[in-house]
Amino acid sequence: MNWYAVPQAGSGIRSNSMHAIARVTPGQIERAVQALRAGEPVGFPTETVYGLGADAGNPAALRRVFELKGRPSSHPLIVHLASGEQLAHWARAVPASAQRLAARFWPGPLTLVVPRAAHVLPLVTGGQDTVALRVPAHPVAQQLLAAFGGGLAAPSANRHGRVSPTSAAHVHAEFGEQLRIVLDGGAATLGVESTIVACLEDRVLLLRPGLITRSALQQVVGELVTNAGAEAPRAPGGLRAHYAPRTPVSIVPAGDIDARAAHEAAAGVRVGVLAQQPARARAPQIRWIDAGADAERYAHDLYAHLRTLDASGAELLLVQEVPAGERWDAVRDRLWRAAAAHAAAPALEASH
Ligand code: TXA
Ligand code: MG
Repeated sequence: MNWYAVPQAGSGIRSNSMHAIARVTPGQIERAVQALRAGEPVGFPTETVYGLGADAGNPAALRRVFELKGRPSSHPLIVHLASGEQLAHWARAVPASAQRLAARFWPGPLTLVVPRAAHVLPLVTGGQDTVALRVPAHPVAQQLLAAFGGGLAAPSANRHGRVSPTSAAHVHAEFGEQLRIVLDGGAATLGVESTIVACLEDRVLLLRPGLITRSALQQVVGELVTNAGAEAPRAPGGLRAHYAPRTPVSIVPAGDIDARAAHEAAAGVRVGVLAQQPARARAPQIRWIDAGADAERYAHDLYAHLRTLDASGAELLLVQEVPAGERWDAVRDRLWRAAAAHAAAPALEASH
């Protein structure tokens, strides 16, 4: 099995205060490219989360991705490209807004939804007339895409409806031996999925908030439409039931987190707490994580923390409500979806 173990610090890891990027050898890239050419999906790092990549021009490879994920084949995939120069190959028309956003934010955590070129497979687009494109900045993704040459359709490398993976170990935990190759690029540097924007002829829609904020987008393209409603292209990531841990999640007003945790523990409930402050009291039934008050750090650690709490044996996850403000938009969006996934609302699509 070509499972690349997480390298130890000091052995080829470049790190700064927050993240470590593991180097992948040319031989590993070459083996991954061979697998992709043979129609086999490959796990790879991006700066947002890990992706499950497959040749976007190979229907059998794409079907394997849907199968592995357990994802309905009507859900469209993002095509990852080595550079913005490939935009015109995948888009039938490139609206001026898309040109400007690509020039400003690629490579980076932004996905652009544009009218698709005729050759783009319906398995990629979910049968829609648009295609989602992104040029990731992670050096390992860049190397893989440059060596592969074509587009890699890649959803997040998790089973459908589950928390996205931010490390190679997470990907392995999702798919085990069913996924032979996972390139290990260290912990994903950002930690939540890309901002998705649809560029239509006359307007720009924000489909999924990410770490590129609304105001950063507006500085480039002017007004954005948010609650696009029925006219919006389908973005199943927009379904409330996505991004969910197995354990039910409840969002608790910031000032109530200690009291609520104590209350549940007193009632004999084992609780996992994702807070932004240290615990005031300890109890054996409480597993408390202080994720801190910094939005970027919080996003970086969010999915790893949810996995840790999920695995802790907790029966209920309490999440301290995050502050207002657009720096928290992406995190707030994912947390509300995680909470909604377990709520008994008939409008929800079941997560698999
Ligand atoms: O950061 C990311 O975007 C990660 C990394 C791996 O690049 N990828 C990711 O992929 O989050 P996925 O499949 O988990 O989420 C992609 C979202 C889905 O909600 C999908 O419906 C939406 O993009 N999407 C794809 N094509 C679309 C289209 N043509 N129109 C509207 N939404 C689209
Ligand atoms: Mg996903």
